[in-house]
Amino acid sequence: MMLLAIETSCDETSVAVVQNGVVLTNVVASQIKLHEEYGGVVPELASREHLRNLHSVAGEAMARAGVGPEDIDAFAATQGPGLPSALMIGFQAAQAMAFVLRKPLYGINHHEAHLYSPWIKGTPPRACFEEFEPSISLIVSGGHTILAHVRAEQDHIVLGSTVDDAAGECFDKIAKLIGLPYPGGPALERLASGGNSSAHSFPRPLLQSASDDFSFSGLKTSVRYFIRDNPAVLESASGLRDLCASAQAAIVEVLVTKTVRAARRLQVGCVTASGGVTCNRLLRSELELHCQKHGLKLCLADQGFCTDNAGMVGILAERKILLNIPATGLGVEINPYLSLGV
Ligand code: KG4
Ligand code: ZN
Repeated sequence: MMLLAIETSCDETSVAVVQNGVVLTNVVASQIKLHEEYGGVVPELASREHLRNLHSVAGEAMARAGVGPEDIDAFAATQGPGLPSALMIGFQAAQAMAFVLRKPLYGINHHEAHLYSPWIKGTPPRACFEEFEPSISLIVSGGHTILAHVRAEQDHIVLGSTVDDAAGECFDKIAKLIGLPYPGGPALERLASGGNSSAHSFPRPLLQSASDDFSFSGLKTSVRYFIRDNPAVLESASGLRDLCASAQAAIVEVLVTKTVRAARRLQVGCVTASGGVTCNRLLRSELELHCQKHGLKLCLADQGFCTDNAGMVGILAERKILLNIPATGLGVEINPYLSLGV
């Protein structure tokens, strides 16, 4: 079984070839540079760039896997959620190929694919479902912060999500306040290293709440007021480092505490995490520390599968095939508001 998967929900054009649980190739063309000057993703530019890149990205994914279109048994593409005009490029390309080659098409929920990405491990990357166990899964990116209870494969419920900004958005907005380029998360992390994370006590929103929801806009506002009242902090290298370290510590503490608390409450033995913010080293090490402390297994997405990628889309589609879940009809449309369920 050979699958070709496409992901174009936001600003990464990605195509993967997946065979028997192995991601043979996972080519990603990032648009970060294109959107940098606007300080965020511009949907119209994103869709044009997907259109421009998709052909060569798909060509490279197939060439490196040593396969041609005639070798593909099924197609998969992100159906939603995401930017409508961006989703449309990848989904319609997959639809057209499936139609012409008379193969099945699997429309994939982007968030559900993120639930699968932590199980893709090793070299070559392989879906390690033999290690799967019921878990609490944190999906944490620039657009979403979701805590899900994965009770079994294809059986998950959303416990909570952000009521305002996503965690990655909070990183990006704080980075912007101090003049760092978009997306600010990685740059803020670099500045934070060597800073004193206890220098400033920024709020930890909803940390004590019984709810599994998140909120990050108040934290960002608190950093904004701090900078307004202490403008000199932007002029000093150590001041900037302390500010970044303190803000990062606040975001990470909320994410880790609420994730581990949900795992303990629901008595699952495992925590997983994926999404761009999972690249953050403090988040990774704090999750490791706290999971170890509470006897929880931790399964973090590998660096290459944290951010948006078609590999996770292909792996999920292959699982659906193996579980006899019917293909999506060719007449189906994208759904920018597709949710992970309640
Ligand atoms: O999953 P992703 O590539 O795209 C979507 O948002 O869907 O996530 C991008 C987000 C951005 O907000 C970016 O700043 C954040 O992930 N991010 C990080 C780090 N690397 C990426 N945030 C904190 N620390 C990082 N090292
Ligand atoms: Zn994503």
